[in-house]
Amino acid sequence: MENINQDIENHYHKEGLFEEIILRLTEKGIDINNVSRADISAIDELHVRGAAVSEELAHSIDLKGAHVLDVGCGLGGPCRLLADELGCQTTGIDLSKEHIRTATQLSRLVKLDDKTTFVVGNATQLPFNDNTFDAVWTQHVQMNIPDKEKFYTEIFRVLKPGGHFLYYDIFKSGKSEISYPMPWASNETQSFLIQSTAMEQILDDLGFTKIQSKNQTQAGVDFFEHMIARLKAFGPPTIGINVLMGESTQPKLMNLLDHLKQGELIIQSGIYKKE
Ligand SMILES: C[S@@+](CC[C@H](N)C(=O)[O-])C[C@H]1O[C@@H](n2cnc3c(N)ncnc32)[C@H](O)[C@@H]1O
Repeated sequence: MENINQDIENHYHKEGLFEEIILRLTEKGIDINNVSRADISAIDELHVRGAAVSEELAHSIDLKGAHVLDVGCGLGGPCRLLADELGCQTTGIDLSKEHIRTATQLSRLVKLDDKTTFVVGNATQLPFNDNTFDAVWTQHVQMNIPDKEKFYTEIFRVLKPGGHFLYYDIFKSGKSEISYPMPWASNETQSFLIQSTAMEQILDDLGFTKIQSKNQTQAGVDFFEHMIARLKAFGPPTIGINVLMGESTQPKLMNLLDHLKQGELIIQSGIYKKE
């Protein structure tokens, strides 16, 4: 397991990520002492449809003032969105030391460090007591995690009774081979895709009550077609996920788009309640 996690950390690793973001903000003429969430939202939301989908999810139930855990928080964009817009106290946990260092610095940069805390850790061994959080949130993380039962059991454990679990994720749908690289995996050894029905069965067995699920695939396809057309026409933006993915941005996005269009992968969001 250690080896898989190291491999996954390496997949996402970009040395000096925070410093690179600062450099690019400066290049764009943004005053470093006055950076807004919007200035960094193209880089700190590492999932299909970025900040727009976090916004939708954040407002899909009443999370005002809630204590929220983001499992696999990446660079912390969703934590800052929840803190800023809904006054949530947020904690993000991620395997990647560089992501956590960058998330912490970005929160300081946009002056949301009093409402956001970031810790290095493994989603399948959460360092929190039972019944700690009002809501647990995860986006585009479980594809990297082989032990799904442990992943969802830990989420259930740290959630308070009456609390909500919100997810936004990619699932296998067809039976065809998946082509790599993908944004979450350089090759198949880092990717553990399951069908959404398998996840729902695990959540059911844990005792979660389903509130809603939503197929988000078409919205994802539309987003990518627009993004790829822009990339082809204008080249990579100064600040975007290309800062993280570099030259592999286009093949990763094209592979994902192809599989979404062919129906072999789907994007789904959902809300569950721990009674
Ligand atoms: C595609 S990124 C999504 C980041 C963030 N959720 C977002 O949507 O902006 C996946 C993140 O999951 C993290 N991750 C993968 N496996 C993990 C694990 N076992 N425990 C904690 N974090 C993990 C990665 O380090 C990476 O930051």
